[in-house]
Amino acid sequence: MIIKKAEIIITAVKPSQYPPEDSPEIALAGRSNVGKSSLINALINRKKLARTSGQPGKTQTLNFYNINDDFRFVDLPGYGYAKVSRKEREKWGDMINRYLTERRSLKEVILLLDIRHSPGEHDKMMYDWIKSIGFKGIIVATKADKLSNNQRSKQVSVICKELGIKDRSLVIPFSATKKLNKDKVWNIIKKVLNT
Ligand code: GTP
Ligand code: MG
Repeated sequence: MIIKKAEIIITAVKPSQYPPEDSPEIALAGRSNVGKSSLINALINRKKLARTSGQPGKTQTLNFYNINDDFRFVDLPGYGYAKVSRKEREKWGDMINRYLTERRSLKEVILLLDIRHSPGEHDKMMYDWIKSIGFKGIIVATKADKLSNNQRSKQVSVICKELGIKDRSLVIPFSATKKLNKDKVWNIIKKVLNT
């Protein structure tokens, strides 16, 4: 994918702030700190357009990015972040749920999982929800640079087994730091967008 334009449109906390539903959207979901914002930056070749942090809980709003005036990435706040108050967590949960359930221009939710770990309770719930909507169920298994090839393949099997995925090609080991499998992720996104 050639990136001619990549810009933040808005950071939103409620539907009235969302941009108009006139462009297809691909959302990135996953635990806090799994690498959602880093994935966006890696895909569009920008180091810091989406803010990242070693501290979980960096992204606290729905961040809409315009890509080439063709489609949008929507960077979601991570779930499962223990260090904020319950009330705050519920607020984020509501914000994510509302976007996911009400957004008609949402074309796919890519679920990010840390390749080193088995999917947790929240991950399973999110995956089941994604499938129940009728989306493809694309998994990007992040931080693959931390494992050997052999270990990666084993972890892909674990993820497939835990989530009941039959088609292994839907689980893509990815590294933002090493840019591993960037093309694969782009290809699957292009398929979703029919371009
Ligand atoms: P929240 O906004 O808190 O939900 O987190 P996030 O999912 O957006 O994660 P973010 O992209 O901010 O990355 C979290 C940390 O993981 C940062 O320190 C990143 O540098 C690191 N990280 C992300 N992707 C990779 C990767 O592929 N490999 C390695 N080694 N580190 C990564
Ligand atoms: Mg983030």
